[in-house]
Formats: sequence, structure tokens, C-alpha cells
Amino acid sequence: MKILVTGGTGYIGSHTVVELQHKGYEVVIVDNHSNSSAEIADKIADISGTKPTLEIFDLADQALTADFFKRNKDLKGIIHFAAYKAVGESVAEPLMYYRNNLVSLMNILEGMKENNIPNLVFSSSCTVYGQPDELPVSEKAPIKFAESPYGNTKQISEEIIRDTLHASELNAIALRYFNPIGAHDSSIIGELPLGIPNNLVPFITQTAIGLRESLSVFGDDYETPDGTAIRDYIHVVDLAKAHVVAVSRMIDSNMNQKFEIFNLGTGIGYSVLDVIKSFEKVSGLKLNYKIVDRREGDITKVWANPDFSNEVLGWKAERDLDNMVDTAWKWEQAYRGKTIASSH
Ligand code: UD1
Repeated sequence: MKILVTGGTGYIGSHTVVELQHKGYEVVIVDNHSNSSAEIADKIADISGTKPTLEIFDLADQALTADFFKRNKDLKGIIHFAAYKAVGESVAEPLMYYRNNLVSLMNILEGMKENNIPNLVFSSSCTVYGQPDELPVSEKAPIKFAESPYGNTKQISEEIIRDTLHASELNAIALRYFNPIGAHDSSIIGELPLGIPNNLVPFITQTAIGLRESLSVFGDDYETPDGTAIRDYIHVVDLAKAHVVAVSRMIDSNMNQKFEIFNLGTGIGYSVLDVIKSFEKVSGLKLNYKIVDRREGDITKVWANPDFSNEVLGWKAERDLDNMVDTAWKWEQAYRGKTIASSH
């Protein structure tokens, strides 16, 4: 059972490859290493004992993608992670985001159609809900006007998939992630952003390891219990397992309709200060942070209603916030080859 994982050397992709291999799937990765590196395939092998096949090219290149599919007609499914994902960068470089995220998706869908590869799992985001009117947010909530070109690429991608499915024999599952954090229990793979991290948890762990001076908490005047913004953080391994469930559901022809959409969250919202407290608890360290102005484009609060995924996929997020933060911190120390002793 051969599965293509695009972006398979990236953060969520690499954790998903490991879970697929655990379930006996053969994995082919396509990645252009725009935000990752080839050594991740070796790290995957260190965990699973099997090195996935790795092809390095850009899926936005139509000819190369068509050629790849011609050589891989025996694929049973595709999990498509490869995309740009930095909100701020997408505001500065919208065309780069539209070209990369949309053209690659269209090339993949064309390859699927031409070679009769029926099953696609697509990496979507809770960003499609914007600031929801009701919380927790279910899959039935309306799609809001996108706050960023990045968010818009996720909305448009879901539409491209829906229209393509309507006119073909293809099936797809879109998984709308809330906030993936944490790392593999082995501490061999984790989240390694290039340059200064945009996201909260890598910024926390890089501050604690001494790479950053201090964490800026973006706003403490939100309408939330402690004034900081609330998100639904989910462990990357829980998220990875949901992808295996989704692709197996398609291969086993268990879908209720040809396009299914699921939230992937825990259903619990935590504030920025909750995450900091969890970090201080699991690490035994005092984190250096300061409150600054709100970050443009941030919403106040969002957390998932995961009932539909729990019931229909038979999947449930299992790990709690302390475990997410603990695995992220252990990974950061392992990666940097440094152990920071607890101060108490
Ligand atoms: C954003 C996107 C999400 C995308 C994800 C991946 C939106 C609304 N969300 O999530 O779709 O998948 O990035 O890149 O577009 N924070 C700080 N200090 C920091 C960093 C973050 O206080 O240095 C706060 C933020 O204000 C936010 C929370 O931490 O309240 C989480 O931020 P972040 O990790 O960047 O994720 P989102 O913005 O929620």
C-alpha cells in the first residue's frame, strides 16, 4: 500500500510518515525542502527502521509533477501537506502564496485524475472559520472572509477540491487543523522553523534554550479570562494519527460522501499564559516574557467541536497540554544538544 506524502520532511508531514510506516504503509515523500531538509528522511528511519523514498522537486512544476505520477501509478492515496504557511509572509508576498499553494494542488489533482489515483487527504486549517460566531466551532460553521492570503489559499483549495471531485471519480478528506504543537516522543523529530519562529511554542522553547531574548505575548487585553488569546492546541502525533485514519478510511471505501471535512482539535481552549504556565511547570524554568501589543490579524479565541471527527473517524486527540509542551521542550534540548536544568 503505497502512499505519497507531499511535504513529508516538514513538521506535520514527518510525524505522519512515521505513523503511516507503523501501520505498514510504504511511503514516498515529495518535498522541495523550502522549509525542511533531506536529513529528516534519515531521522524518520531512525525512528521507524525504514527510510521512506524521497524525491526532491517542486510540485508547482507541472511537467515534473506529471512525470512523477506517471512513474507512480500504483499509489493508493496522497496526503498533501506541501504548502507555505506563514501568515505574515503571505500578506507581504500574496502571489508567491497563491502560486505555490494553489498551483501545486492543481498539479496533484491533475496527476490523480490522469493516473486513476482516487484518494486525497488535504491539509486545511481552522483559519477558514475566522473568528467564529459560536464556540466550540463545528464543521458546519460558516466560512469567514479570509484574514490573510495564506488563509485564503486554504479556503480556495477546499473549493478547488470540491469542484474537481464533482467532475471526477476522485475522493478527498480535508482536515482542518487547530494549533499543532509538540514533538515525537523519541525527540528525534519536532518543529524546526527556519529563522525566527512565528508560532508560540517554538518561540517559547527557543527562548528557554537561549536562542531568543524573551517571548513577546501579543496582547493581554482580549475578552478572555486572563486577557490573552485562546487557541485549541493539539499534539502533532495525535494529528498525524488522524491522517492515517483518514487515508485508511478512503482506501477501505468507508466514506459517507466523496468529500468529507473534519476538525482536528482537542475541544479545549488554552490561553497564551496557560501555555507559558504549562511550560514553566514541565521544564521547571522561569520563562522570560513580556506583554506587548496585539499582533495584527490575530483572533481572540477559537477551539474545536471535535464531536464529528470523534464519531465518524473514530479518532480522538489523547495528549494533554503538559505532554505537548514537554515533548516540544525535550525535542528542542535534544536538537540543540543542550540540557537546561530545572531551577527548582
Ligand atoms: C496561525 C494561523 C493558522 C496556521 C498557523 C501555522 C490564523 C488565524 N492562524 O495560527 O491558520 O495554521 O499559524 O503557522 O491565521 N503568540 C504570542 N507570541 C508569539 C507567537 C504567538 O503571544 O511570539 C500568540 C498568538 O498571538 C496567538 C497564539 O500565541 O494567540 C498562537 O499563535 P501561533 O502559534 O502563531 O498560531 P496562530 O496564529 O493561532
